[in-house]
Amino acid sequence: MLRTFLLLALGASIAAGEDIPRLVKSQLIVGGEPFVMLAGELHNSSASSVEYMRPIWDKLQAMHLNTVIGTVSWELLEPAEGTFDFTLVDSQIAEARRRNLRLVLIWFGSWKNAASSYVPLWVKKDPKRFPLMSTRNGSPSFMGLPQESLSPFGAESAAADARAFRALMRHIRETDPDHTVIMMQVENETGLLGDSRDRSPLAEAAWAAPVPVPLLKAGQKGTWREVFGDGPRAEEIFMAWHLGRYVNKVAGAGKAELPLPMYVNAWLGPQPGQDLPGQYPSGGPVARVMDVWRAAAPNIDLFAPDIYIDDFRGVCESYTRSGNPLFIPEARALVANLFWALGRHNALGYSPFGIEDLKQDDPLAEAYRILGGMSSLLARSEKTAVAPHETKISFAGYSMNVRKPGHALIVSLAPDELLFIGSGLEVTLEGAARIGTIDEGRFENGRWIAGRRLNGDESAHGNLITLGERSLDIRRVKLYQRSTANPLSRDASSRSVPPV
Ligand code: DGJ
Repeated sequence: MLRTFLLLALGASIAAGEDIPRLVKSQLIVGGEPFVMLAGELHNSSASSVEYMRPIWDKLQAMHLNTVIGTVSWELLEPAEGTFDFTLVDSQIAEARRRNLRLVLIWFGSWKNAASSYVPLWVKKDPKRFPLMSTRNGSPSFMGLPQESLSPFGAESAAADARAFRALMRHIRETDPDHTVIMMQVENETGLLGDSRDRSPLAEAAWAAPVPVPLLKAGQKGTWREVFGDGPRAEEIFMAWHLGRYVNKVAGAGKAELPLPMYVNAWLGPQPGQDLPGQYPSGGPVARVMDVWRAAAPNIDLFAPDIYIDDFRGVCESYTRSGNPLFIPEARALVANLFWALGRHNALGYSPFGIEDLKQDDPLAEAYRILGGMSSLLARSEKTAVAPHETKISFAGYSMNVRKPGHALIVSLAPDELLFIGSGLEVTLEGAARIGTIDEGRFENGRWIAGRRLNGDESAHGNLITLGERSLDIRRVKLYQRSTANPLSRDASSRSVPPV
């Protein structure tokens, strides 16, 4: 009897284990299926009140999100050392689960925007046990204001943060067997503002120590100054390594309870107006120190850019160059950027910041509605995106000309079958390729619901794929190659030998 029970329990735990959301070859698998996060991130303080959040949940569901990025702060989770309050976590999980939404939770632990404002009061009050970073000017600062930021060299800080995060992950494991929570963000925009490196006594000792082996080329050795030189770039690498080691401990403690995918996000830099590390958080996971972070923090599965600058496409490029799966936890709500991230970089997801501020009929909600009906198909299929500046499209073996600029996501549904979602665009085919049929319609729960067959005036007699100006249009297009043997074909008629 006991044996049967043990075997059953073992079986159940293996089954649950198999279902844990995970990354497989740069794809997020949720409930055994590839999943694209059509997400939005809450404002920092929203999830600190169950009541404040109440109307927001319905709105997010009505906006067709399938994932909400919520928050858990250390100060509210562990108000007294060793005493945990999971009320706010439980409420986010329950509200999301009720609406069939998934959750990504941000751990506002030791650092939030390079400051330590979310650590509990018992940490803030004890800088001896939890030492702070110091800079050339004294303390870190932002916009001329001094701020307190834990030093990554505080061993007790790392241990305390890791204990709290572990308790959080244990609680999620025990209370969320269906995996409403699919991924965790560990800390938020780490780094140091106001200087390029920590100059506290512990940091000075580390700066004078030998560079760790994983950062050295074969045969190399020396201190940070000897290996990387003096100056902000070297100091940024130093900070990236030590912040990475700290965050790795926190993530590892959490994964020991529940190994969900875990990521860190970056305040980007260098960026316009913030050229030097310290003007943007020094040592945070910006693209140029991603390799350092990767070596320091193997428990971190991906590095995610918060994209508020104009060069969205450049940032996507810099974050995927080394095989890093793209996830954008913070961005502006722009459909063209959503399409670009999904179409060109197979992004795991896209998430405007302050999602609760968006109007319910924002174009992004319409895009989420359309894509939500085909989430798994979308994650599995080959895709591309067209940006308004592009005049040619090469995709799935077809060359197309853009007759009128617009933006679109194009999904390959089958050989010779493409789905266009977008607006403004007019496309013709090149060479011997022809449009067979064009259908309006939409996917619902992965099933195609056909609308009108567009022919005649609506497709320039089968020659033009057009997407409407004002709203997002969907066109399912079957293509074929016109045989050159056909005497009436355009290609045949342009041959020098006249058809007989
Ligand atoms: C980036 C941070 O990661 C967010 O938590 C929030 O503070 C936004 N900036 C505000 O724009």
